[in-house]
Amino acid sequence: MNLTKLRRQFPALMQQVAGKSPIFLDGPGGSQVPQSVLSAMSAYLGYYNSNLGGAFFSSDKTVELMANARQAAADLLNAPSSDQIVFGANMTSLTFSFSRAISRDWQAGDEIIVTNADHFSNVSSWQQAAEDKGAKVNTVLINEADCSLDLAHFESLLNAKTKLVAVTYASNTTGSINDIKRIVELAHSVGALVYVDAVHYAPHELVDVQDLDCDFLACSAYKFFGPHLGMVYGKREHLEGFRPYKVEPAKDVIPGRWETGTQSFEALAGLIAAVDYIADISELDESYSRRDKLTAAFAKTKQHEMALSEYFLTRLVNYPKIKLFGIDDLDRLAERTPTFALTFAGLEPRQVSEFLGKQHVCVWDGNFYAQGLCKQLGVLDTGGVVRIGCMHYNTIEEMDTLFNLFDELI
Ligand SMILES: Cc1ncc(COP(=O)(O)O)c(C=O)c1O
Repeated sequence: MNLTKLRRQFPALMQQVAGKSPIFLDGPGGSQVPQSVLSAMSAYLGYYNSNLGGAFFSSDKTVELMANARQAAADLLNAPSSDQIVFGANMTSLTFSFSRAISRDWQAGDEIIVTNADHFSNVSSWQQAAEDKGAKVNTVLINEADCSLDLAHFESLLNAKTKLVAVTYASNTTGSINDIKRIVELAHSVGALVYVDAVHYAPHELVDVQDLDCDFLACSAYKFFGPHLGMVYGKREHLEGFRPYKVEPAKDVIPGRWETGTQSFEALAGLIAAVDYIADISELDESYSRRDKLTAAFAKTKQHEMALSEYFLTRLVNYPKIKLFGIDDLDRLAERTPTFALTFAGLEPRQVSEFLGKQHVCVWDGNFYAQGLCKQLGVLDTGGVVRIGCMHYNTIEEMDTLFNLFDELI
C-alpha cells in the first residue's frame, strides 16, 4: 500500500494547524474524508440537487444516484441484492426505527439478548422496545482479561424464548472483534434473529452478510471515509415481512418502505465515492468487480493496520503507568482493530486528551456510549478511557510522535 499517495487524497491529513501536521487518531469517532468524496458531494449539490420522480434531468440523475448508492452499499456488504439496503440519517435512528417494527409482535415472557460490548444505540433501542412489550432483556458480559465477548455466557442466556440478539461486530472502545458467524449459528438454532452493529468493524474489515447469515446489519458511512449517513442490510423475508412505521402515501415496497422522508442525496453521492475510494486501494484494473477490488483492498489495509497494532502494543509494554483494556497478544492481532482503550495512572482521560489535543494529536476520551463495557471495566465514573483509534491512513511515524508525547506527559 502506497501510504504517501493514499494520504495525499485527504485534505485533512495534508493541512497544517499552527504550523504542525495534525495527527488524527480519532477514527472510531468518524474518519477523515478523501477529496473524491468531497467532490462527489459538491457536484451533486452544485449541478443536480433535486428529488425523486420528476420529469427532468436532475431528478433522473437523482434516481440514478440512489440506485448506484444502493449498489455500492450492496457491494460493500455483499448483500445479494441492492434492494436489501435501507438508508437513513445514521445507524442510531435506523436502529430505533427497526427495533419498533421488529418488536411489534413480542409478548410478555419473550426474551432478547444485548451485550456489554455494544455501543448503546444497539442496546437502548432494544431495551425500550422490550420494556414496551414486557419482554426480558439479558445482557452478555465481556471477558475482562481481553475484552472479548463471553461466548459461554451468551450461550447460557440463549433459549427458546429468545426473539432477538443485538450484538456488535467489533467494540468501538477496545477494538475486540466478535465471532458473529458463531453467534448467528447459535441464535438461529433457537429461532432468534440477529441484528449486527458493524459501525466500528466496517472501516477495518470486509463485511459479508451472506457469509455471516445475519438477519440485519447496520453501519455508518462517516466511519468509513464517507459522509454522515446510516444504512441497514436486511434479509429480504424480514424487510418484506416486518411492518415499518411509515407515512401512508409512501409506497409499501422494499427498501423504500423503511426509508422515511427525503434522503440525503448528497450523502449518497459521497457514499458511492467512499466505497470506490476503498476499492481503488486494491489498484486492480477495471476487469475486476467492485467486490473483488474491495476484497483485495481490505486485505491490504488489514495488513497495514495489523502492523500499526503490533508497533503500538510492542511500544506500550514499556509504559507501566498506562493500562490497556483489550487484546495485547501479538498472535491475536487479527482479532482486533487498531483501536486502543487506555487509562493513565494518576491522570484523568480528559487530561490526557487535552494534553494531546494541544499538540494537535486528536484522540477521544470518555465512554463512547459503550456504557456497559465501561461499567464492567470500572471506568464509567472515572472519565472512561483514552481511545487511540488508528485508521489505514495512520503511520508508524505518527505512533512515534504519540509515544514521544506520552514520554513528556508521564
Ligand atoms: C460501534 C458503534 N455503533 C453505533 C454507533 C452509532 O452510529 P451513528 O452515529 O451512525 O448513529 C457508533 C457511533 O460512534 C459506534 O461507534
